[in-house]
Amino acid sequence: MLNEINNRLEDIFKFLEDDLELLENELKNRLLSITDNKIDLHNVFKYFFDIRGKRLRPILVLLSAGLVRKESSDLIQGNVIKAATVMELIHNSSLIHDDIIDESSHRRGQATLNHKFNNKIAVLAGDLLYSHAFLIMNKLNFSQVSGILSGCVEKMCRSEIKEIISPYSDFTEYIGLCDAKTADLMSACCKCGALISNAKKDEVTALGNFGTNFGIAYQLTDDFLDDEQPKSFDINLLLQAKIYGEKAKKNLAEFADNEYKKHLLNLVQYVTEKAESVKLEKDFNNEQNKQKELSS
Ligand code: FPP
Ligand code: MG
Repeated sequence: MLNEINNRLEDIFKFLEDDLELLENELKNRLLSITDNKIDLHNVFKYFFDIRGKRLRPILVLLSAGLVRKESSDLIQGNVIKAATVMELIHNSSLIHDDIIDESSHRRGQATLNHKFNNKIAVLAGDLLYSHAFLIMNKLNFSQVSGILSGCVEKMCRSEIKEIISPYSDFTEYIGLCDAKTADLMSACCKCGALISNAKKDEVTALGNFGTNFGIAYQLTDDFLDDEQPKSFDINLLLQAKIYGEKAKKNLAEFADNEYKKHLLNLVQYVTEKAESVKLEKDFNNEQNKQKELSS
């Protein structure tokens, strides 16, 4: 079952193989350029990027750009890869800052930058990634893309401050937090991919809404798997994730069926099915361990 679910993501990686390779090269070159061949600085970023994530944000940029593409040119293609790079850098910058705020010692199975080096290095490394992302974005010369991203990062930071001062207390505030910290960047990925591909206004809006609903579903599954069940109100995190996933699928209803749409829909399916399956496996292992303890 888990294999079948993972295949959905593997199929997307295969479908976008060439673009993802260009993305990895762009990321590598960018990291070399910001570290200016200084070994110490290079080691900080190499350490962080050696463990890579799923590249969900670049995937959203690439699939959205492909979904609305009417004509292809090297310029558009190059800009889409640059936008995907910008999103991955901003995402990683936000994770580095999140780990400092949360005083986390581990992420993706390895020590966080704040833990391995220290807070000073980590906060500056996050800032460096973030400013470099904006440097690439400004060179794209798409004022709408710049506006969307600046607004998105402002929203992320504002909501993180609010969360520290007065944590959410009801369902609406909680969903607002999921939107601000995770979904808005995913929505920005979809909108920016579409804009660079010269999408029509209603296509940009539909893909933006898709990104928001997908992102909320994603954050809900993340909290579900981390056992971060809100205490102040009752919510079935997995059920809500499925509801937001269905909303995301509906946002694509007006687009003609093609491979890009298929993979965007599969990405939604992957996120909720994977969470459900990982949880089942966890519960099963816990139950087996309990039984073993009882019988020993
Ligand atoms: C992880 O959430 C945190 C985020 C997705 C956003 C954090 C945002 C900031 C720290 C604002 C600064 C932003 C920039 C771009 C400089 P989580 O704690 O639920 O997930 P986790 O389990 O992966 O830590
Ligand atoms: Mg965290």
